[in-house]
Amino acid sequence: MTRKLLYLPVLVLAVAGCNCESARKSALTAHEKEIDSIMAEMTLEEKVAMLHGKHMFSSAGVKRLGIADIEYADGPFGIREELEPDSWTPLHMETDSATFFPTGSALAATWSPELAREYGKGMAIEARLRGKDMILGPAINIQRIPTGGRTYEYLSEDPYLSGLLAVGYTLGAQENGAAVCLKHYALNNQETARGIVDVKVSERAMREIYLTPFEMAVKQADAWGVMAAYNKVEGKWCSENSVLLNDILRGEWGFKGMVISDWGGTHSTGAVEAGLNVEMPGGAFLGDSLLVAVKDGRVSEEAVDERVREILRVRMTVKPVPEEMANKTMTSQPNAQKIAYDVALRSVVLLKNSGLLPLDLQKYGKIAVIGDNAVCPQATGGFGAGVKALYEINPLRGLMSRIYDKAEVEYVPGYRRYGPMDRFMRKSPVCDPDPEMLAEAVRLAEASDLVIFFAGENREIETESSDRKSMTLPLGQDEILRAVSEVNPNVVTVVVVGAPVDLRNVEKLSSAVVVSWYNGSEGGNALADILTGKVSPSGKLPFTIPEKLEDSPAFSLGVFPRYDEAPYSEGIFVGYRWYDKKNLPVMYPFGHGLSYSSFEYSDISVRSSGKGIKLSFQIQNTGDMAAEEVAQVYVERPESMQEMSVRELKGFERISLAPGESRKVEMFIDRESLRVWDSVHSCWTVEPGRVNIGIGSSSRDIRLNATTTIK
Ligand code: BGC
Repeated sequence: MTRKLLYLPVLVLAVAGCNCESARKSALTAHEKEIDSIMAEMTLEEKVAMLHGKHMFSSAGVKRLGIADIEYADGPFGIREELEPDSWTPLHMETDSATFFPTGSALAATWSPELAREYGKGMAIEARLRGKDMILGPAINIQRIPTGGRTYEYLSEDPYLSGLLAVGYTLGAQENGAAVCLKHYALNNQETARGIVDVKVSERAMREIYLTPFEMAVKQADAWGVMAAYNKVEGKWCSENSVLLNDILRGEWGFKGMVISDWGGTHSTGAVEAGLNVEMPGGAFLGDSLLVAVKDGRVSEEAVDERVREILRVRMTVKPVPEEMANKTMTSQPNAQKIAYDVALRSVVLLKNSGLLPLDLQKYGKIAVIGDNAVCPQATGGFGAGVKALYEINPLRGLMSRIYDKAEVEYVPGYRRYGPMDRFMRKSPVCDPDPEMLAEAVRLAEASDLVIFFAGENREIETESSDRKSMTLPLGQDEILRAVSEVNPNVVTVVVVGAPVDLRNVEKLSSAVVVSWYNGSEGGNALADILTGKVSPSGKLPFTIPEKLEDSPAFSLGVFPRYDEAPYSEGIFVGYRWYDKKNLPVMYPFGHGLSYSSFEYSDISVRSSGKGIKLSFQIQNTGDMAAEEVAQVYVERPESMQEMSVRELKGFERISLAPGESRKVEMFIDRESLRVWDSVHSCWTVEPGRVNIGIGSSSRDIRLNATTTIK
């Protein structure tokens, strides 16, 4: 955890001059001469063949010229199983079981770009074993609405946190031989009507909030692939949106790689001129129709050449895995499994603790584990992303393996699992408890010293292609918890989710509350190590948990759900920016996460120069246990000419401290990262004036304050 990322100073170069070609260097441009000679040999038919899917997860090379096909690995949290070439039917191979990595919001809860880099490395190692060239991830859209179906795949409600983690993931994957494909570019923040909805967003919100993670991954980590989203932005499909693809991605950010469509997200042959390289899957538009369009002069051959060149750059940079080498060993590898454990361990968030955690097994020798989420597999489910996991340690198994010889553990499901059939039959997950299961849970709780109640959702409820209808805990969980807590006051609630849920009852009825996410192959082991106190929890929420759904921006403004046009009327005030602006109480704030230890912050010092703001502070572990803390730096611009957020995250660091240890932490806020979008001149600008700095343990637990001025 000591290795620091080398964030290249490219941000400075690129934001200083807006609307101009970036001078950024990309590894992709090392093969231009070779590409010239290959392209000189290619027929138009061969070029067009490269611009659409050959099979469900590959696009064509040119065999005659020794150019291999590009093989895509569906991600973003594990290498998907092998399918029949042109269908979604699995091949049931013996070697394609992969490591299930913690899903997006879990990775984000680590607040660790270093771990994200390890994560990318683990994904790449397994992708290469399977002969894959490009991982379809990371998924980095902003978590705009609490009920978003893909919130669990995405990282955060904050662009800076999302961006730095995307940079880490990208570096880790690409330095280990696999290209990333940042998805879904851009503004795919709802699953409701995602294939038709037209996002109406101010340029400022688009730039400052929604595009920033993509921009950072392109500029700071040289991402080689991007996936265009299904939706429209300002009237144009993302796959044929020349402003997004040609002007911003390529023109301003200097992207040199390839853009593929989301599956079935291409709408015209003209997409080639707007900047799309590959239609996936099949070739309804960029196949024969494109050939005819080029011959008719409706689409220019120069555009086709440009798109082919960009694909060849990626092909030349990512070495193909010879067919006879792919799929020879099991995909899931011990080094990747270890990474999955490290991430899971640091992602677990302790929301509340009145002293029941870590578990005192001498005092509480008989433990009731209640709730299907203690055993429910989370690697697959619902629609879309999933991993055929080599194994998945569920929470009950993890707990049993750690405490089987120290305490008596008994499990009952408490509620019936929400399954695929329920989804197809459109049965709402919000329903009453089953009386018999409830009675069984109460009996067990009564006969036990302590209850660990597993609440939350599952992958059938949080899923691609639909958003949740509510934040209420499903399957009667609030009622079950109420009944259980009436007979046993010692309740630890573990919430298994990838997105915010309504925790008002959980907070009242539980002595301790933990979020353990969809936490991958090693999730149960990591959770058990936290609950038993082997390791102190150190995850921090990557999103706000509001008190109720109606408090959240799009719901409170009545602009969600929308099916034809989605107005982003809240502007830049997404996530904590909204709750802070409205001065609303929240259940748990952005950045919140407790420890078994305690930390004291002191001695802040802040100094600004032409380059940015240097700050330092002292942090001490004042408890009696080794622990990690994520210190967060928020910035306020009281003199800005624009309407600003109360505070914005501009820095953070994960610090590991032995009991009693004190450390001086130094951080630097690059001047350019204080940029705001000037909508009048359509340009980034850094406003001079006062900068208030707050350093703390969450966005609403600021421990140190200081003020400085930038010129
Ligand atoms: C999803 C993508 C995914 C693709 C291929 C689409 O439905 O939006 O994220 O990579 O399918 O499975």
